[in-house]
Amino acid sequence: MLLTLPRVLDEQALYEARKLLAAGRWTGGRHTAGRQSAQVKDNEQLDPMDAGTIKLQQLVLQAMERHLLFFSAALPKKIWPPAFNRYAGGQTYGDHVDQAIRTQAQMRLRSDLSCTLFLSQPDEYEGGELVTRIGQVEHRVKGRAGDAVLYLGHTVHRVEPVTRGERLASFFWIESLVRDPGQRELLFNMDQALTALRSRDGESAEAVALMGTYHHLLRMWSDT
Ligand code: NI
Repeated sequence: MLLTLPRVLDEQALYEARKLLAAGRWTGGRHTAGRQSAQVKDNEQLDPMDAGTIKLQQLVLQAMERHLLFFSAALPKKIWPPAFNRYAGGQTYGDHVDQAIRTQAQMRLRSDLSCTLFLSQPDEYEGGELVTRIGQVEHRVKGRAGDAVLYLGHTVHRVEPVTRGERLASFFWIESLVRDPGQRELLFNMDQALTALRSRDGESAEAVALMGTYHHLLRMWSDT
């Protein structure tokens, strides 16, 4: 699965985010990486303790919570506090997989899904594509500022070197109510088809019956 989430941040939110990013305190990015990842990671991250970072995290989390496509695809149970990174001057993050379990203070999360939210416009930098490898195929994404991309937590991925300008992004992990990716995808497809059906035909008896089936499956497969 590789899904684009359009317009997670609107113009106003993006403007706010960019202002906070410009004023932020940046440090080397290796501290959130595991042992394998740290060897291939070269970027900067916002100091997670900074007041500006906490404002940015709230801004991103509120936007994610309002995004219907995100909710439908991820069925989120917990979202890791978003981190913010910056790549410039050839910086890169080579092939790696994200750690399955993240632990911090009182929080523990299984990273069922990874999410990258683009905060620079694609024409502001050269390179910097997010490359995910699914089976034998590599997918290269360079999203518009404010768009996000969602992919399975076990996907091998990298960020290509940024050879001009500056690439700003946020990234975080999601633990889903539904652990199994196949079951989650089935629920997503069913929910999307149902939404289309209801907007075309209104609340028909068939739509209500199918919605009952959706919620029955969700009840069977979810873990709250
Ligand atoms: Ni990663």
